[in-house]
Formats: sequence, structure tokens, C-alpha cells
Amino acid sequence: MTMAPFTIRSEADTETFGRALAGGLRPGDVVGLCGDLGAGKTFLSGAIARAIGVPASTPVTSPTFTLINEYPGGRMPVYHMDLYRLGSPHDLYELGLWEYYGGDGVCLVEWCDRFSDLWPDDALVLTIALGTGETRTISAAGQGRGAELVTFLQSAFHS
Ligand SMILES: Nc1ncnc2c1ncn2[C@@H]1O[C@H](COP(=O)(O)OP(=O)(O)OP(=O)(O)O)[C@@H](O)[C@H]1O
Ligand SMILES: [Mg+2]
Repeated sequence: MTMAPFTIRSEADTETFGRALAGGLRPGDVVGLCGDLGAGKTFLSGAIARAIGVPASTPVTSPTFTLINEYPGGRMPVYHMDLYRLGSPHDLYELGLWEYYGGDGVCLVEWCDRFSDLWPDDALVLTIALGTGETRTISAAGQGRGAELVTFLQSAFHS
């Protein structure tokens, strides 16, 4: 497991972080977003999606109720999931998450720490911790491809 913390001082830093990460993402990558309620998981998902080229006319909103939002129009599809309201592992199978993981686009998965037994081994996990005001700490962790992305972020993002 490779891990690294990143200091975020403002919303603009979160946007910069999302853009930096997007530069290293390729089809099939899975990015988990965990952390406190309101920490900025959806905000960061939006920053990543925009940097992949999802046009401003496509809203990036919380998939809490829709469970999966799909955003076309970028250099690859962006699949935005939220596991918060899923009741059981069965629901994950029902949603067909594994058809998206490792597929033709990038998956951004909020509340990825739910059902962690079923989380893909080589995903990147970003855990956002609230600080005061707009301050956040993003802990990036992963193995395999996820570890590659942690290392990539260390060279691509400087706040
Ligand atoms: N540095 C920052 N990064 C991201 N969001 C920030 C930052 N500073 C302030 N915010 C604000 O925090 C809020 C984060 O809301 P967002 O919906 O992204 O959180 P979330 O983690 O997805 O919440 P939920 O747990 O409901 O899914 C937004 O209103 C955003 O404007
Ligand atoms: Mg959210």
C-alpha cells in the first residue's frame, strides 16, 4: 500500500488537485472518494470530470439517489457512483458495478469505504478530511495501479 497526504487550503486547491489527478487517469481506472459528510467528494468529482473534458453544460451532481451518473463528452466516459444509500452487498451486484470498474471510462465512487470487502484491489482511494474553513487534507492510498496514481499525484500536485 502506497499512501500520501496532500494539503488543500481552498476550493481552488481542490480544483487543481482534481485537474492534476485527471491528467494521469485512463480508461478502467477506479477512484474512491471517502471522508466526512460535506468534505467535498462531489466537488472533487466535478473537478476531475471537468478536467477530463465533461462540458460545463453537463451538471456533475451527487448520485446519492440516482446511484450512478454517467457523464459523456470528455476524452473518456466518467461514471460517478455513490454507495451511501446502498443497503447490502447484493445492491452492488444489482447495480452491475463490475461492468464499470475496469471498463471504457473512469469510475468515481463516493463512500467507497462502504462494503470495503468488495472494493477493487488496485483502485485509488482518496479520503478527504475536513479542516477549518476551506482547508482539507486528502489522503491518497492504493496498491498496484492505485499506488501508481498516488506516485503520479506526488509529482503532479503541489498546493
Ligand atoms: N477545499 C474545498 N474542497 C471542496 N469543497 C469545499 C472546499 N472548501 C469548501 N468546500 C465546500 O464544501 C462543500 C462540499 O460539498 P460536497 O457535496 O462536495 O461534499 P460531499 O463530501 O460530496 O458530501 P456528501 O457527504 O453529502 O456526499 C461544497 O459546498 C464546497 O463548496
Ligand atoms: Mg457527495
